[in-house]
Amino acid sequence: MTILVTGGAGYIGSHTVVQLLEADYEVIIVDDFSNSKPESLKRIKEITGKDFKFYEVNLLNEKALEEVFEENKIDAVIHFAGLKAVGESVSIPMKYYHNNITGTLILTKLMEKYDVKKMVFSSSATVYGMNNISPLTEDLPLSTTNPYGSTKLMIEQILRDIYVSDSSWSIALLRYFNPIGAHESGRIGEDPNGIPNNLMPYITQVAVGKRKELAVFGDDYDTHDGTGVRDYIHVVDLAAGHMKAVEKVMKDTGANAYNLGTGTGYSVLDVVKNFEKATNVKVPYTIADRRPGDIGACFSDATKAYNELGWKAEKNLEQMCEDAWRWQSNNPNGYENA
Ligand code: UFG
Repeated sequence: MTILVTGGAGYIGSHTVVQLLEADYEVIIVDDFSNSKPESLKRIKEITGKDFKFYEVNLLNEKALEEVFEENKIDAVIHFAGLKAVGESVSIPMKYYHNNITGTLILTKLMEKYDVKKMVFSSSATVYGMNNISPLTEDLPLSTTNPYGSTKLMIEQILRDIYVSDSSWSIALLRYFNPIGAHESGRIGEDPNGIPNNLMPYITQVAVGKRKELAVFGDDYDTHDGTGVRDYIHVVDLAAGHMKAVEKVMKDTGANAYNLGTGTGYSVLDVVKNFEKATNVKVPYTIADRRPGDIGACFSDATKAYNELGWKAEKNLEQMCEDAWRWQSNNPNGYENA
């Protein structure tokens, strides 16, 4: 069985490719390294002792992408590739719409042409918008607050419409909550460009001495300690969810959304405390203003993924912190200078 993985050199992609290879799938990675590094591909080989095909291709390059379909017999696609910085998407929306949406349209057009009608798509809990009360179930009304989120929601809609037009398609829309942590080897992990936007990479960069202190964005939310609550999920659990989703799309047709979260919410200060306890490293912080667009609490009801995919998250917050720290402390500059 051969799986095409777009964005396979990235944070979630690389962890998923490790599991695909360990389960003896043939893997073809397409990545343009816009937010990833070639070194991650070397490390995947090192961890698994297995090889895969790689094409340095941007999905907007239809001709180059078509060669990938021409040269390989692909059974299913896991589609991670996409721009993902919320703030940046507000400043340069056209780039986000073009890259994420046009890229997906080109990919699905080729999938149809080459009769590859099975896809697992990286969606996001961002599609639940600001008006739903957690725990979030898949049937809630959807909305978004920034262009990045809108691309995820629009792509979900496009993929559903493709299924409506041709019921031989099989599509899983995986709505990720907050992936953190790293492979337990400490060899692959999250390597953000520039100043991290997200909480855990910020914490690990403070802990390793690259940043002075964490700014906690607001302590006046309606949560147990006033700081924002999220559903943090270990990236290795998330990758395992993709394995189950691949099995599902190989056997059933349909277009279905699944939450991938633990179902438990932790506040920013819970994460800081857990990190300090798990690693014995202090994380200095100050309380800052709320970040525009943030909500107080966002966590999943992940029952549907359990019932229909047979998947649930196994790893706890302490393991997420330990593994994130192993990665950061062994690779203070990420894949840079590796
Ligand atoms: N936070 C801080 N300080 C920081 C960074 C984050 O206090 O320096 C807080 C945020 O206010 C929030 C929590 O930590 O309460 C988590 O923030 P992240 O930026 O790590 O994650 P978000 O929940 O804001 O966003 C994530 C993904 C988005 C996705 C969204 C969907 O990054 O891609 O979940 O719910 F859209």
